[in-house]
Amino acid sequence: MPLIPRMRVSPLSTFARAALVVAALLAGGPAGAQTPAPAGPPTPRPKVLVVATGGTIAGVQNAPGTLGGYRAGTLTAEQITASVPELARFAQVETEQFSNVASTLITPEMWVQLARRINAALAREDLAGVVVTHGTDRLEETAFFLYLTVRSAKPVVVVGAQRPATGISPDGPINLLAAVRTAASPQAVGKGVMVVMDDRILSARESRKLYQRTGGFSTGEMGMLGVVAGNGPQFFFAPARRFGPRSEFDLAGVDTLPRVELAYSYPGGTGPRFDPLPPGVVVATTGFTRAEGEAYRDLRMKGVVVVTAFTSGENANGGATMDAPPLAEPAAAGGERAAPAPTGPPVPPTVSAIHLTPGKARILLMVALTRTKDPRELQRIFEEY
Ligand code: SIN
Repeated sequence: MPLIPRMRVSPLSTFARAALVVAALLAGGPAGAQTPAPAGPPTPRPKVLVVATGGTIAGVQNAPGTLGGYRAGTLTAEQITASVPELARFAQVETEQFSNVASTLITPEMWVQLARRINAALAREDLAGVVVTHGTDRLEETAFFLYLTVRSAKPVVVVGAQRPATGISPDGPINLLAAVRTAASPQAVGKGVMVVMDDRILSARESRKLYQRTGGFSTGEMGMLGVVAGNGPQFFFAPARRFGPRSEFDLAGVDTLPRVELAYSYPGGTGPRFDPLPPGVVVATTGFTRAEGEAYRDLRMKGVVVVTAFTSGENANGGATMDAPPLAEPAAAGGERAAPAPTGPPVPPTVSAIHLTPGKARILLMVALTRTKDPRELQRIFEEY
């Protein structure tokens, strides 16, 4: 997708006026007491690239200042960053407009281009990190894709907002400030792609949008990597899985990802029917019915890779993987077993997502299928990433 050219900031927009008022207040205002700048040589601030994709963080209300509707993906990267003059205290910010859309319009092809763009930017020696501004509806998916495919130890922080920029008490400016401070922090190196929302630093692997209000991003049982406090980012933990420079997923020659479908298992379920067959399907399940077990066995016999993911994504006990024969129905889900397979050619095993939400398991399978269709190799990938 072509990059959208940068736009000039309108000095008269409501948004820019609000930014100026905030800046004047923070500076003490014309009549306020000015604190003298401390003497000494200026410290060089790290360079951070803000890549804007759209979303509510770039949203403008139809009637500014109301609680009414708004258009996501309206303000430009320059406008968003200009509205937070405090960014300049912590980083030299560069901006790039990748797209300007509601995140429901972000496609897997755009993920590939975004990852490619970020990998190229992070190869620059003078760049400390990248911030991606994004709509929150699909933020966790894009962030996880970048976690798998950005092959740099430098920080990448994905950030959004749940209130539009011109609304009352927008959360975008404070989230953006926290994101830039995190991307500029030496502590953030080697922590993988992160989501910074509401002062929390979350690993992109675990972060989920649990609800559509501020504070809605969480990692459930898996905890935060750290927080962005008044004195800046503070890390408590580092992810232990494979990502960044240790990722094996080089998508340099890939433009289109394999199609992977998502299916849901439920009482009385009989399994999905696909035409044409996709290369892979992820099933959200806590256990298959007998008919589902048979339907998925049939799909595997036809060459479709079947991954089971615990419906809630909270299966951190690891579940059973394909370590013990018979490699039959989904021990990972622990449910009703299908009828024994008829004798004949061996049935390819089901792959267990172990501890990924179904949506994230789908993304890992899309990426992994660019390398292999072998279920055992795919199981290794699900155990490592
Ligand atoms: C979007 O995802 O683009 C709109 C919703 C949001 O950013 O919170």
